[in-house]
Amino acid sequence: MAGGTLIAAVAAQAGGSAAATTTAEGVYDKNQAKSGEVLYEQHCLVCHDKNYFRPVLERWNGQSLAVFFDVMAGSMPESNPGGLLDDEYVDILAYLFSRSRFPVGEGRLGLEDLDTLTIEHPEH
Ligand code: HEC
Repeated sequence: MAGGTLIAAVAAQAGGSAAATTTAEGVYDKNQAKSGEVLYEQHCLVCHDKNYFRPVLERWNGQSLAVFFDVMAGSMPESNPGGLLDDEYVDILAYLFSRSRFPVGEGRLGLEDLDTLTIEHPEH
């Protein structure tokens, strides 16, 4: 029967950032958030305290993660826009998610995942 095929298809979509469509689905892992924390302390903390992005991400609820990334990578740090590597900005994103209690997952967030993800703030 076709029922078995349907269950297999649904199972294939669950888990792993590649199949996720929103940031509520655990799209980064713990180690990535840790790398991001180090980078954040070096490059961002001087102007943005650690809770700064909670309300910011809430305002971005429902919007494309790729657009948020472009704003961040294109304009920050204010003293050196675009000065970090793309992968470093992605790690910082993972850290911002962890500070804002976005669910953590089992795989790293990748640059190639950003386009398909919508920001879904957990407290929205
Ligand atoms: C020299 C100070 C400075 C540094 C360092 C800095 N920022 Fe900013 N950032 C600002 C200012 C000023 C704004 C504009 C704030 C506003 O619009 O109220 C801003 C705004 C932002 C925004 C847009 C927030 C929004 O309201 O949509 C993001 C995202 C951001 N910064 C990320 C970062 C990240 C990530 C880093 C580290 C890589 C960083 N910033 C480092 C000063 C800084």
